[in-house]
Amino acid sequence: MNEPVSGIAPALSLPEPDRSSRGAGAPETDERIRELRGGGVAVVVHLPDEGLPEVLHWGRDLGALAPGELDQLRLARARPVSPSALDEPWPLTLLPGEHDGWEGRPGLAAHRRGRAEHPRWTVAEVRVEPQRLRVRAAADGLALDIELSLDDAGVLRLAHELTNTAAEPLALTGLETVLPVGDRVGEVLDFTGRWTRERAPQRRALAQGSHVRETRRGRTGHDAPFVLALGAPGFSTDAGEIWAVHLAWSGDAVYRHDALPEARPLVGAGPLLRAGEIELAPGESFRTPTAVFIWSDQGTDGIGARLHRSLRSRSSHPRRPRPVVLNTWEAVYFQHDLGRLEALAETAAAIGVERFVLDDGWFRGRRDDRAGLGDWTVDPEVWPEGLHPIVGRVRSLGMQFGLWFEPEMVNPDSDLARDHPEWMLQPLDAGIRAWRGQYVLNVAHPAAFEYLLTSIAAIVHEYRLDYIKWDQNRDLIEAAHEGRANVLRHTEAVYRLLDRLRTLHPALEIESCASGGARVDMGILERTDRVWASDTNDPIERLAIQRWTELLLPLELIGSHIGPPVAHTTHRATGLDFRIATALFGSAGIEWDLTSCTPAELDQLRAGIAAYRRLRGLLHTGALTHPDTGDDGAGATCVIAEDRSRAVVRLARHATANRALAPMLRVPGLDPNHRYRVTPVPELPVPRGLDDTPPPWLREGLLLPGSVLTEVGVQPPLLAPGEALVLELTREPRG
Ligand code: DGJ
Repeated sequence: MNEPVSGIAPALSLPEPDRSSRGAGAPETDERIRELRGGGVAVVVHLPDEGLPEVLHWGRDLGALAPGELDQLRLARARPVSPSALDEPWPLTLLPGEHDGWEGRPGLAAHRRGRAEHPRWTVAEVRVEPQRLRVRAAADGLALDIELSLDDAGVLRLAHELTNTAAEPLALTGLETVLPVGDRVGEVLDFTGRWTRERAPQRRALAQGSHVRETRRGRTGHDAPFVLALGAPGFSTDAGEIWAVHLAWSGDAVYRHDALPEARPLVGAGPLLRAGEIELAPGESFRTPTAVFIWSDQGTDGIGARLHRSLRSRSSHPRRPRPVVLNTWEAVYFQHDLGRLEALAETAAAIGVERFVLDDGWFRGRRDDRAGLGDWTVDPEVWPEGLHPIVGRVRSLGMQFGLWFEPEMVNPDSDLARDHPEWMLQPLDAGIRAWRGQYVLNVAHPAAFEYLLTSIAAIVHEYRLDYIKWDQNRDLIEAAHEGRANVLRHTEAVYRLLDRLRTLHPALEIESCASGGARVDMGILERTDRVWASDTNDPIERLAIQRWTELLLPLELIGSHIGPPVAHTTHRATGLDFRIATALFGSAGIEWDLTSCTPAELDQLRAGIAAYRRLRGLLHTGALTHPDTGDDGAGATCVIAEDRSRAVVRLARHATANRALAPMLRVPGLDPNHRYRVTPVPELPVPRGLDDTPPPWLREGLLLPGSVLTEVGVQPPLLAPGEALVLELTREPRG
């Protein structure tokens, strides 16, 4: 029998739904298609009488569609029966599986004592709120809650929660979220990396098949896929359609895309579940981390713009000005000495630093990186009066005080390891390979959890800490509790620990660090205030790392420090002006022994800090873009105020140019009908450049309509590698 389509005669034969299988509260006919709209994006979901919801459209907003039109959209999407294929049309659902007819990687993988689960889902309940849809489905022995929400930035969040409703345990080995993307995708972008080279992009042609990137590092990882983007062929920084996913999760992950000959392409992500890791007892549930899906027709900057807007709309988003930080790590390493640190603090305060962070080396037994982790009390030999003398001095200089912790780790040479071998996630006698001489504590162990919470909270309380740098310096190989893989529960426990600490100390700010930038994800950022993007302070390396970190995060969340003249991680020498220009576009700080600086260097730092403090209101709220420079050796970074009244643009060169005349620097996104005054940022030196005579406007500045700056641009000087020009654009009142 044909299924009637309201008001329009059906053109195709569709199977009659089996009404007998409809659960209580199943949607009425005219409510079977739901549209979520926000930020110029629409997600249209079909709720069938049988089986799980299908996404009919995820992409550009289609406008408000009438029920009849939504039904027509469903019809327009209805698939024919392909040759040499299943006898009936089959649905591509939000949790695709073999019972549906899907033969790619399944959304759900589970078994009961070896008996495979191929659930036959029925939607039991649908809850619709503005921009949010919750669907409860049931199958024999299982319940599934699907939650989709679309925010005003057009960012879609999707999570599944699976409940075992049978009397037998359920072994879960996969639960992933996926969405169909446009058929016109042809290229794939994701990321890789290593220590001091995080978030390196890799791009390739889309190939057929189910393609999976797994991470098994027990933390997000230096080589995390980060953002998996499927785009129309040739998508660029500012053009082309892209469908992307990011998993808000700091443990093992699966990023996947599926392009099967008989189905629409999919993109998705989920937690990586190791064998035996998740076994659901009767009545128990498992909820996936939230997957964040982003569509844009404006290239990678369009993806970034949506993510930044979405993150900035969170109530927990840091809104106080991001202070200038002095971090002691590369300044003194483990050489903690009150006199030396006081001198550092005094110099820092004198040039405008606002937060002093005492890094690794302050706690019991921590004279180098081989001992002490786990013993979270102040070392009485180095600090006989506790940290009070340095905290007091820092505060008397008008700065905030922050402290380094690495709560998840233990050195075998620590009282914690000696007293509580049962708290280890990696038993010390199991022959597991050490990493920086350290092993992982099982934070999911209730007593270990309480110990960490109590000891960290006591230090926060005693010294009224403003800030914690929360480090994590190793991958979690062979991480198990009583023989059972335990990365997932451990990661959840770390989140709980952070949440509890923040509840106890709501004003405390926390930075996420993991051997530099190995924990940069939206899961950790739900409970932290900035990330340490990388352990390299070499500005040449940093420019690339920050550029792609900015795909996910706005500048105020990305820690960036001015390091010493010769970078400790690369041994490369760079100029101070270049190091300042690099750190300016971030949550800025210094990591350098300032007591070794010349007066001229201190003056330059003071001026750079003044520029940051003057411009951070704009840098940390404006729209970020990366205008195409037309030059492989140089990158541009631009921030334009929401009201388009101001902008800052940095042109930075990391390699020589292939032309003698630098391409025009264009600034998209300005108000075309207003004039802007263009000048170099006055606090920063204008780079010398390689031209015999620099472009004349650099001296007097320019006054040009936004339309000209966007379409024609300005002639920049030919910068030498390691030089940056930072421009300020100010809209003139209409006169
Ligand atoms: C690794 C971090 O990334 C560094 O910034 C520093 O905090 C060290 N750990 C300290 O051990």
